[in-house]
Amino acid sequence: MSKLDQNRMPIQQALLEFQSQRVVPFDVPGHKHGRGNPELTQFLGERCMELDVNSMKPLDNLCHPVSVIKEAEELAADAFGAAHAFFMVNGTTSSVQAMVMSAAGQGDKIILPRNVHRSVINALILCGAIPVYVNPEMDHRLGISLGMTLSAVEKAMREHPEAKAVLVNNPTYYGICSNLKAITELAHKNGMLVLADEAHGTHLYFGENLPICAMKAGADMASVSMHKSGGSLTQSSFLLLGDNVNEGYVRQIINLTQTTSGSYLLLSSLDISRKKLATEGKQIFRQVLDMAEYAREEINQIGDYYAYSRELINGDTVFDFDATKLSVNTLELGLAGIEVYDILRDEYDIQVEFGDLGNILAYLSVGDRRRDLERLVSALAEIRRNYKRDKTGMLRAEYITPIVAVPPQRAFYSEKESLLLPQSTGRICSEFVMCYPPGIPILAPGELITKEILEYIEYAKEKGCFLTGPEDLELTRLNVIKEG
Ligand SMILES: Cc1ncc(COP(=O)(O)O)c(C=O)c1O
Repeated sequence: MSKLDQNRMPIQQALLEFQSQRVVPFDVPGHKHGRGNPELTQFLGERCMELDVNSMKPLDNLCHPVSVIKEAEELAADAFGAAHAFFMVNGTTSSVQAMVMSAAGQGDKIILPRNVHRSVINALILCGAIPVYVNPEMDHRLGISLGMTLSAVEKAMREHPEAKAVLVNNPTYYGICSNLKAITELAHKNGMLVLADEAHGTHLYFGENLPICAMKAGADMASVSMHKSGGSLTQSSFLLLGDNVNEGYVRQIINLTQTTSGSYLLLSSLDISRKKLATEGKQIFRQVLDMAEYAREEINQIGDYYAYSRELINGDTVFDFDATKLSVNTLELGLAGIEVYDILRDEYDIQVEFGDLGNILAYLSVGDRRRDLERLVSALAEIRRNYKRDKTGMLRAEYITPIVAVPPQRAFYSEKESLLLPQSTGRICSEFVMCYPPGIPILAPGELITKEILEYIEYAKEKGCFLTGPEDLELTRLNVIKEG
């Protein structure tokens, strides 16, 4: 399928050539190939420090690529079936923000599910776009939010025909996919762009028997966390463009906030990982899928746990399911997901990706081994034997339908006051509150603070969720918009 030689790694090659030339560095970084900071060099290794260099003619420039980065971008675009690929070094957060800010400006509307990552709503604060939320349906048994129904998206488009774009999670953290292809067709018919948050979807581009990836579905932009399931270094990501997006304009948007000192460690990790996935991805993700299936079967035999998968597919709110995701519901055990997460780490030295109120997620990707999964399975069995308790009073909901009173940017920048949590009922929040991960806001700037939301926050605190977002790190107070 590739038109280019996917074995090439132009950034890696340029770095190796540069290293062999033993150039005398009178430029930044000031550690000068590690010599100026022996302690750091000993910690990270000489190779790492020697390759931590800045932009220069033979290594190209991330903000304005004309040589090796340009070729690496072309190879990435070819591998992902995109018209263009940008190398991103400030996380998928920056890819998501660039997508939103390229599609919408001050006062423009964008249709999106509310169970988006905070980076999406952050982008609305930055650019002043107005969200039109399509509430995702819930699976009440599992306590997870599902995809957007096609009819709800259609309704939002009918009611807001001036919206510039639709944003879709593909998939969600838990593995749920909306009908991206149909949403894309609908959006294009209505003159709207389609932006896909594929922070959890890198493997969709390379594996088989997986949900459709955004570029194949015809989406206009996609943010792909190569550092999550793709194996590159933390913080490295791709922003992909479809055929009808102005690459030059998107680059200008990226450069509004992107560093002018792009890390070559991150850039080369993207280059090398792209080569690996393009040449071996099919086989790698076949193994990942096999491991996930194996673990699901074993976990479901333990009892009380429910490791869910494609049986959730219902043709609409769960149009498809990413079966590489090992999401496990823990509620029948009488334990919140976050409690199982804590026990796994504290008692068994096993770190899973996250635990929410009802689920844990073990993230499987290119680096996993079957024997580690066996350890996870036996730890879960032991936890059931030792910790199972009465499940009455367990809260399930992962999502509370928000009441948006004021657009996010206006709320964030308006005059505020700080109130104790119980006193904030009925007021409009001007900051975020979320459990991280998954980083889906419980409250976002501009939303009404209700009793139900405060009870949810108290419950999440009590269960040990890592709550982030507000100015007050202890979350005893909330910033609300000043009245009068
Ligand atoms: C759905 C989603 N989008 C975007 C991001 C942002 O990715 P990053 O942490 O690479 O900035 C995340 C992070 O977990 C995410 O879950």
